[in-house]
Amino acid sequence: MTDRKLLSPATLGALQLPNRLIMAPLTRCRAGDGYIPQSINATYYAQRSAAGLIIGEATQVARNGIGYPNTPGIYTSAQVVGWKQVTKAVHDRGGRIFLQLWHAGRVAHPSLLPEGEIPIAPSPIAANCMADTANGQQPHVTPRALALTEIPRIIEQFRQGAKNALMAGFDGVEIHSANGYLLDQFLQDSSNQRSDKYGGSVENRARLLLEVVQAVVEVWGKGKVGVRLSPSSAFNDMQDSNPTATFSYVADALNQFGLAYLHAIEPRIQGNITIAETGKGLGARFFRSIFQGSIVTAGGYTCEMGEAVLQEDSADFVAYGRLFLSNPDLPKRFALNAELNRYERNTFYSSGEQGYTDYPAIETLGL
Ligand code: PHB
Repeated sequence: MTDRKLLSPATLGALQLPNRLIMAPLTRCRAGDGYIPQSINATYYAQRSAAGLIIGEATQVARNGIGYPNTPGIYTSAQVVGWKQVTKAVHDRGGRIFLQLWHAGRVAHPSLLPEGEIPIAPSPIAANCMADTANGQQPHVTPRALALTEIPRIIEQFRQGAKNALMAGFDGVEIHSANGYLLDQFLQDSSNQRSDKYGGSVENRARLLLEVVQAVVEVWGKGKVGVRLSPSSAFNDMQDSNPTATFSYVADALNQFGLAYLHAIEPRIQGNITIAETGKGLGARFFRSIFQGSIVTAGGYTCEMGEAVLQEDSADFVAYGRLFLSNPDLPKRFALNAELNRYERNTFYSSGEQGYTDYPAIETLGL
């Protein structure tokens, strides 16, 4: 079984990976006070260090970039210190870890923000869906449109997040431009109705993402920055009037940066839910003919489906989220064709060890 392509070593940008299984970035809502990673977070990631690459969870680059309760940040020195214990624990176990840089934009619910603040966005258009807050589900509010003069600050927040991730000992970073968060809100025209140089044409809507990528690549250099896109997802009330045109332009424009990879979320996934076995729409296969670098594909893959997507050469790496969450030794389980632990959805976003660091590895099952 070890002749599977999924389990074969590969080069990803500047990194050598022992296999092509990537741990997908997973929001787990378990940072400590001050949105600082704790030793429990280090344990969780270290348990999963057999991944070819771990992509750390969505991590806000600014206080108002928070998307859910207790998501970690990368904008204070205490957060950098907190992340250092995570990267050290993963490296001590022989693993590699990127950090996902995130700004939630309009879906940062006011209950998560300092008193009186409202979320920022390209345009004052509320996401027509519910927010997960500390007080349960609440409707999203109408956000405040960023002034043109405020946009350079957003780019600097991503640049500083990238510098902080470097200081914290990560091996690279992924820019979160998917799932209806700030950069995706700029890309797609249902949430961006600006009339300045950041709205209107696809060139204008992609401008912020490309400026952020430029800034982050200036910090990290070539082969250490990935970008995540979800061209088919309606999660967080996203929609574009011409996704093929929008995302072809973006994928082509991303060719100029020497990225480590483009990370595509497949159409069958909405947030953390599988909506269809075979989703129609844009995913890795679509990007393959446009983007010249490595492609990571994510979205409800089994071992067999992951192997198949690599064999048909629609992608170079497969990201596993829910299966990695519940199987810390997933590559080994695939190699042995071993049974998988089932994931418990009700502890995805809860607190403490339960459903987080207590999923057993194979050894403890006596196999
Ligand atoms: C995301 O960061 O993209 C994300 C977070 C939480 C979810 C789904 C997606 O439930």
